[in-house]
Amino acid sequence: MHTLISERQIREGVARLAAEIDADYHGRPLTVLGVLTGSIIFLSDLVRCLNQPLRVGLIQASSYRGPTTTPGELTINTALLPQVAGRDVLLLDDIYDTGQTLARLLRELVQFEPRSVRSAVLLWKEGRQTVDVVPDYHGFKIPNVFVVGYGLDFNDEFRNLRHIARLDAAPGAPANSVPE
Ligand code: XMP
Repeated sequence: MHTLISERQIREGVARLAAEIDADYHGRPLTVLGVLTGSIIFLSDLVRCLNQPLRVGLIQASSYRGPTTTPGELTINTALLPQVAGRDVLLLDDIYDTGQTLARLLRELVQFEPRSVRSAVLLWKEGRQTVDVVPDYHGFKIPNVFVVGYGLDFNDEFRNLRHIARLDAAPGAPANSVPE
């Protein structure tokens, strides 16, 4: 595995994002909604950098992947969603890849009648988008490689890495098996 974004770069990127968000919302109360599970570390770091009144909530988006890097069908679970009607919502996800997850989540959230919804992602994988929706805020653009760490997983592992690493081959897989 190779380090793509170091712990220090992440810290600086998150602080930069928080400053942008603070400047845009002018102290208006916000609901920061983390997408489980990949955004949990990003969520906890970002909210501690924001200087405005906020609530934290969670929403789950899962696409069964199993021991592969190719996502399956997407399921959204709103059971943990707090009251967002009339509130400004900032949806937070780990990575924007094809954009399908973000587009689906935004469609879903509108039904709960928030005052506004914007989105922020830590990573934006370039050249993969299949939807028109783009995140309002992003930390880093990355090439089309599979990444793990800082909340991102492969087969539910590596979320605890403090940096973002490029995963060159599935662990335990034959040496010539490189994830999509
Ligand atoms: P889409 O394609 O819907 O994908 O924008 C977003 C979701 O796909 C997962 N994903 C990744 N997870 N390393 C990961 O650990 C990656 O390189 C990667 N690319 C996509 C992730 O769950 C994200 O929310």
